[in-house]
Amino acid sequence: MSLGEPVSSDGKRLYPHQGDAARDARLASPSFQRNAPPILAELAPILTGRTGPALEIGAGTGQHAASFALAFPGLDWWPSDPDAGHRASIDAWAAAHNLPPRALDLDAAGDWLAQPEVAALGPLSLVYSGNVIHISPWTVAEGILRGAGQALAPNGLLIFYGPFTEGGRHTGDGNAAFDADLKRRNPDWGIRDVETLRDLGQKHGLILDRLIAMPANNRLLVLRRA
Ligand SMILES: C[S@@+](CC[C@H](N)C(=O)[O-])C[C@H]1O[C@@H](n2cnc3c(N)ncnc32)[C@H](O)[C@@H]1O
Repeated sequence: MSLGEPVSSDGKRLYPHQGDAARDARLASPSFQRNAPPILAELAPILTGRTGPALEIGAGTGQHAASFALAFPGLDWWPSDPDAGHRASIDAWAAAHNLPPRALDLDAAGDWLAQPEVAALGPLSLVYSGNVIHISPWTVAEGILRGAGQALAPNGLLIFYGPFTEGGRHTGDGNAAFDADLKRRNPDWGIRDVETLRDLGQKHGLILDRLIAMPANNRLLVLRRA
């Protein structure tokens, strides 16, 4: 551990790094080192002291999942992803940090609440999904909002991180180009609108609590179960 590297209260590294990734299933996202510090800084006042099961949807490499589990030890962090290679990476990052390797196989567009391993978690304190709903069909955003509306305990939180439009407008030129590129790659993908998510969330008993501006025109969208 290098001097000055952020650590949790029990001395564990907050930002998992490459380590021995070449020798196991760990994948490394180029944006992780850049995105993790501001995300952790903004989530700290919201999540510190919060307890109960937390489900992460579309955890990808699992680097964020490991850093969240270390940063917020009151939460029982359950990462998930439908991609088997990503689940192997999530578990490898967890194991490298003495966290339980237990990535769930979860497709957010499906009836994930009916999965026994999800139902066994009981009412959720938090559902978190970062950089997922623009790189997947709209049915994924719908599935997350619908499922969170049912699975969250009262006062439970649904948090999205990523690029969004506000009132149908991009929050920066970079995002407009990114959106066009996403749609070129898959016409069902694309940057989602805050108001559309807010309105659909409301139908599922979720109230938009906070919209936090993040670096590079990203946002944290915090919805609270009424
Ligand atoms: C760009 S990565 C984001 C990974 C990570 N959350 C992060 O912020 O670095 C998008 C992830 O969404 C996952 N994903 C795609 N379709 C999904 C679906 N239907 N349900 C849940 N996750 C999905 C992908 O497998 C991938 O791991």
